[in-house]
Amino acid sequence: MNVYGAKAKFMRTSPETAAVSMKKAPNAALHSSWNWELISDKAIDWWEPRIRRIKDAYPNRVLIASIMAGSGNDKELGNWQLLAKACQEAGADGLELNFSCPHMDRKDMGSNIGKDSVLCSTVTEAVKEVATVPVWCKLTPATADIVVEAGACFRGGADAIVSSNTFPSLPLIDLDTLDFEINVDGYVSSGGLGGPAILPLALAKMASLTKAFPDKSFSGIGGITDMAQAISYFMLGCGTVQVCTAAMLDHAIGPNVIKKLNQQYREFLEKHEASDGWHSLEDFRGSRRDRVVLQSDIRRPNPSDYAGGYDVVEGYAAPEVAPTIA
Ligand SMILES: Cc1cc2nc3c(=O)[nH]c(=O)nc-3n(C[C@H](O)[C@H](O)[C@H](O)COP(=O)(O)O)c2cc1C
Repeated sequence: MNVYGAKAKFMRTSPETAAVSMKKAPNAALHSSWNWELISDKAIDWWEPRIRRIKDAYPNRVLIASIMAGSGNDKELGNWQLLAKACQEAGADGLELNFSCPHMDRKDMGSNIGKDSVLCSTVTEAVKEVATVPVWCKLTPATADIVVEAGACFRGGADAIVSSNTFPSLPLIDLDTLDFEINVDGYVSSGGLGGPAILPLALAKMASLTKAFPDKSFSGIGGITDMAQAISYFMLGCGTVQVCTAAMLDHAIGPNVIKKLNQQYREFLEKHEASDGWHSLEDFRGSRRDRVVLQSDIRRPNPSDYAGGYDVVEGYAAPEVAPTIA
């Protein structure tokens, strides 16, 4: 059950004050979205006919259904299978498993699945047992090394990884009321940050994923409004991108965002068709992935003086090594 009151708000910032606030201000630009929405309040029998109607109306378009359940026991793993079967039978072309919503207390839901590589594998495997369509796992960015959880999902049979969901975050305390800008009875809990503020963070997560698994499929999300951001995800190796915050601000579902993305994509290809001979995404997908390297691989003013942060070994003597016992 969702909390009382607003489940999502937008933060803005302005060049005059540099404030980051949910309060509306003139000339303010979007900074981020913040939400603590737990789950859809519509049950699967509400969604099923709607998925079917969407697919009937647009049979040549791709429809991905995002699903989530608990995963603490066999009955709950059965719920993942129930949702998966219902969505694919209604016409969904793919399933996205939500291992990533950051504000669930239950240890076996949302980002708590994405923080547990055993659960990542177990749930993916359970869904793959019944899936007839591709299965994407959407991972939380809130772990030490997202490559570990992605590997677990691939071992469970995932067809693709999606990143990033929102980052754990708090709203600011209002200087006038000394209350959090969004609260219920004065209380707040950690929620999820999306939008422009997370773009560079989400790109870093995506780069570590695509570099670790260059032959796997990835869908990029986080801070995308138009091609200026989407192109970074594509050049890191993503085959698709997704939009949430910018779409919510555009008639709640983003018709103009999509139109602009398509238009800019065509213009981008036209420009590079002439200069680089690119005809489709496959001609440039992943083309900048290998430009993300270790710090020590970046050129120094005096490269000969640099030993990756360690002392340079001086003289002709070989570095000391422990004597081996014959
Ligand atoms: C109000 C709100 C609700 C969201 N609900 C879900 C959800 O149910 N499942 C999910 O996988 N991600 C959910 N997200 C996360 C977004 O899908 C997306 O991963 C994140 O906001 C980053 O993308 P963006 O910068 O385009 O917003 C939600 C985001 C917002 C703002």
